[in-house]
Amino acid sequence: MGRYLPDGNIEFLGREDFQVKVRGHRIELGEIEATLAHYPTVQETVVTALGENQGDKRLIAYVVPKLGHSLTVADLRHFLAEHLPGYMVPTSFLLLDTLPLTANGKVDRKALVAFALSPDASSLQSLAPEQNLGLWSFQRDVPASSLVAQITQLVASLLKVERIDPVVNLLELGVTSMDIFRIANLLESHLHVSVELSQLVLLPNINAIAAYCEQHLSVEETFTGILESMKKNGTEHISASSKFLLDPIERERFKKMQSGLRRIESDSPGVQLIAPELESKLLRKYLERCSYRTFLQQPISLKPFSEFLGCLRQISLEGKPKYQWGSAGGLYPVQVYVYVKPRGIEGIDSGIYYYHPVKHHLSLIAPNVQLEQEVFGLVNQQVFDQAAFALFLVGQLRAIEPMYAESSRDFCLIEAGLITQLLEMSAPAHQIALCQMGGIGFKKIEHLFALEEGWIYLHSLLGGAMDIPLQEKQLSIVVEGNDWEEITL
Ligand SMILES: Cc1cc2nc3c(=O)[nH]c(=O)nc-3n(C[C@H](O)[C@H](O)[C@H](O)COP(=O)(O)O)c2cc1C
Repeated sequence: MGRYLPDGNIEFLGREDFQVKVRGHRIELGEIEATLAHYPTVQETVVTALGENQGDKRLIAYVVPKLGHSLTVADLRHFLAEHLPGYMVPTSFLLLDTLPLTANGKVDRKALVAFALSPDASSLQSLAPEQNLGLWSFQRDVPASSLVAQITQLVASLLKVERIDPVVNLLELGVTSMDIFRIANLLESHLHVSVELSQLVLLPNINAIAAYCEQHLSVEETFTGILESMKKNGTEHISASSKFLLDPIERERFKKMQSGLRRIESDSPGVQLIAPELESKLLRKYLERCSYRTFLQQPISLKPFSEFLGCLRQISLEGKPKYQWGSAGGLYPVQVYVYVKPRGIEGIDSGIYYYHPVKHHLSLIAPNVQLEQEVFGLVNQQVFDQAAFALFLVGQLRAIEPMYAESSRDFCLIEAGLITQLLEMSAPAHQIALCQMGGIGFKKIEHLFALEEGWIYLHSLLGGAMDIPLQEKQLSIVVEGNDWEEITL
């Protein structure tokens, strides 16, 4: 292990591991140091990785400015970002007068680490406020009682740092997916705001989190009464009085109650199961599968679209037809129809097609049709406007009733669910994004499908070109775990 000196010489620092793995990337610390040493006003620098676990590891750069020269962390960050990939830009910078040395005159790395972990402001005495823009950042003018200040304090204590600039991007600070879980927990326990993880990962900094919480806090305060009454009377009471919960806030309240979970006593006997996959892996899988309601406004190429629909293809095993999902009695009564919007998919004219799973062929059913927005209902109009195509799942009862009689509709619905899951999980690999659509006005369009007697409408989805930057933004926070290789979507 060595250290680049400003004169180009390398000081040998010992045999400590200089190659680290941070958020899935193998990183040569010396490479970062060498780059930083080229910054005109840097005297010397050491970079270390802090944190025990993959998920917690962060790069810290300790930088000594040249005597009499100013240096800002923002400039350093910018400089490194121009010369190194993002994952090599340290999350934190400590500007020091000198590097601590051991009795042998070597850089005392243990002292550096202790220094970085110290929440004591006096460690930073040598720093001018404007020099310090990252984790140990300068105080913006934030009233101590404000929500921003409260959240800053929560996140800073989580990251074991003294201060965080509320405008600095959390990902740049090295916040990991585990941290996101923890931040969500802290917001819930301290501020009583439950932030959906999928929302939280899209909020770039503390200011944005505070704005989000502010909205939800006011909701909390205003509707405490509703929650109380829901708790007191049970949800049946509400359902009985209004049939459906229509008010969006009431709906949100209801959702948060997670009534689908069976209530169990905290001391009820049972078996604590062994922890499954890392939460971060599950989060990554989730972010790939989840519903997308914005799509890139560009046609999807025929190849990825064909490959995507290929997950529905019939295969043959020992002469028997098989699919990627199960079906009662192996009957496969669910049909998939594709509506292609004008310019939705390259090389496919707008219209309604039947996907033939044996021929892997889109058979034209209704040419040149254009579905009206209203088919998908008011709430889904915007999703429809952006979509490139729609998928409709239709059950053919005649293909199942002779064997399953009155269970046939239920079995078709189960199968539609399985197909939907398969589609959602297959789409991201082809840069296609999907969103399920419930309660659409299929009646208005059923004539276009020229369906044979015995059909029942089951479900539909809207899809479009995946907004890769959006997805990468989500995925980038879960880039961790030993076996992680960067996802290319
Ligand atoms: C039967 C069903 C109907 C749905 N209908 C809609 C819909 O009409 N509009 C919509 O935006 N999402 C719809 N969704 C998607 C759900 O809102 C979504 O799955 C849920 O909020 C969980 O989010 P996630 O899929 O991103 O994990 C539907 C999902 C299911 C299973």
